[in-house]
Amino acid sequence: MCGIVGYIGDKNAYEIVINGLRRLEYRGYDSSGIALYNSELNVCKTKGKVEKLVKKAKKNISLEANIGIGHTRWATHGEPNNVNAHPLISNNGSLVIVHNGIIENYATIKNELIDKGYNFKSETDTEVLVNLIEYVQETENVKLGKAVQLALSQVVGAYAIAVFDKKKPDEIVVARLGSPLAIGIGESEMFIGSDVTPFLDFTRKVIYLDEGQVGVLRNHKETKFYEISNDSIISPNIETLELELSEIEKGGFDHFMLKEIHEQPKAIIDTLRGRLKLNKGIIKLSGIDNNLNKFTSANKITIIGCGTSWHAGLVGEYIFEKISRIPVEVEYASEFRYRDPIINPNDIVIAISQSGETADTLAAMKLAKEKGAFVFGICNVVGSSITRESNSGTYTHAGPEIGVASTKAFTTQITVLYLMALKIGKAKGIISNNVFNKYLAELNLIPEKIEKSLSFNNKIEEIADQIKDSTNCLYLGRGFNFPVALEGALKLKEISYIHAEGYPAAEMKHGPIALIDENMPTVVIATAKGHYEKVVSNIREIQSRKGKIIAIITEGDKDVKEIADYYIEIPETIESLTPLLTTIPLQLLSYHIAVKLGKNVDQPRNLAKSVTVE
Ligand code: G6P
Repeated sequence: MCGIVGYIGDKNAYEIVINGLRRLEYRGYDSSGIALYNSELNVCKTKGKVEKLVKKAKKNISLEANIGIGHTRWATHGEPNNVNAHPLISNNGSLVIVHNGIIENYATIKNELIDKGYNFKSETDTEVLVNLIEYVQETENVKLGKAVQLALSQVVGAYAIAVFDKKKPDEIVVARLGSPLAIGIGESEMFIGSDVTPFLDFTRKVIYLDEGQVGVLRNHKETKFYEISNDSIISPNIETLELELSEIEKGGFDHFMLKEIHEQPKAIIDTLRGRLKLNKGIIKLSGIDNNLNKFTSANKITIIGCGTSWHAGLVGEYIFEKISRIPVEVEYASEFRYRDPIINPNDIVIAISQSGETADTLAAMKLAKEKGAFVFGICNVVGSSITRESNSGTYTHAGPEIGVASTKAFTTQITVLYLMALKIGKAKGIISNNVFNKYLAELNLIPEKIEKSLSFNNKIEEIADQIKDSTNCLYLGRGFNFPVALEGALKLKEISYIHAEGYPAAEMKHGPIALIDENMPTVVIATAKGHYEKVVSNIREIQSRKGKIIAIITEGDKDVKEIADYYIEIPETIESLTPLLTTIPLQLLSYHIAVKLGKNVDQPRNLAKSVTVE
């Protein structure tokens, strides 16, 4: 995910582009950059956030300009550094581009361009694209708009781009496929943004560029839009913005948490992209590929993390033991660091962290390294401390998570753990090709099954209404769904301040059953293949003590449907993949309860998103 901004008009382009980048920083902040033209092309870029760019730009370039583009990057191709930062310039120094998306066939195009004499400074797919546009422009002798159109018709992938030519600095060409692009229309001026926030202060008139369209934006002259595929001219709808800035930042959702819950299908697609290769029947995960021997010969894996990341680790324990037959221990990082943990040669420590900055996790992994462990990081934030401290690792690609209660980070962490366990299990010969391929196919279907689970939002809201006034709540699950019960309880505690406990269903009779009465609801995860009959018995035990049951069941279930007070269905999948689906209704349930109780869902009291102190 990246953010792109652009401006052409009579105002100061620098101010508009920089403020736009600040608003789009939620989309990524590995690096940022700006290109301005005023008798010469001025480009300034830096690894890191927009404020760093501001300082650098003020020192190094002229800020006077009426045309400019900017970018805030969430790295995909190439590590986040000054060279890979956007904007990127073509070989002849004339074209400059910002890009949000991924050009999948960039390697092929790059080789063709190298054969034609082009050279590349960065590792990015974007530099390939800008040079392809230059090549087309020069060989076909066409205007920039046409060159962009012809170049993009050779490209496979996703993009939102803004590009201009310093030889003709009175137009910016934009195009989109798969990544968003909004165009603000002012009086003799045009604005560009990955969303509308960069230009909300200036205009309420917006065009949302459609898939496969190119626009040639000019300030005082006619602006043109046409289809990339067939050249036909189009007249896009001009819409009037009625939304407030704060609402738009949340993508139209009332809260970041709700937005992030709904983003999970996409987050998982992003996590799987380029890794799960269904048609080839392989998983590509460079962090594992480069260290495969270490994993296949590991005696033990210790997973460390805090909060929700620790819960993902618990799911990982079940997954690794089932699929790759490696003994796993899951430790709170805060406990691990102060014990005297036994680390033997061939042991692996996996550190899981959304932010990559959690102090306990960081300290625990340093200790593990000192003791000779190979430390593998699973992280969401590119370039964070935990990624730097790891011997190797992999990103979750969930995109920035702003709501303090973690949602999409959890499901993407579990997704990565599946990919790892499957790859190792196959390499060790624990699972057959058939089983492996079946997992790949099912994993690939998870995003649409989550989408289906999200469609029960209204029903879950009604259930929330019924139980919102409880002061205690019990969450039960077994096997793969025991950690989900813990996570469900944590979500409720965090944002609604209702006391909740997660338990393995069978442990209920060893204590929590004493608490059950008509005032204490129990959320039970009763998936079809998850020790179903035994969980049904637990439900009956609760009901005979007048407890209320909210059951998470598999589509097609009959028994629990009949006896539960409320039920929510999830689509069928392999049992070990069910945590990715059973989690969704529990997130929504906590969310709706907290909203109904009037709590601050995104910033719950006493909590922080990134805990950098002990
Ligand atoms: C805080 C957050 C939780 C998160 C935990 C671990 O408590 O509020 O949502 O699960 O830290 O954070 P990490 O960034 O390491 O996953």
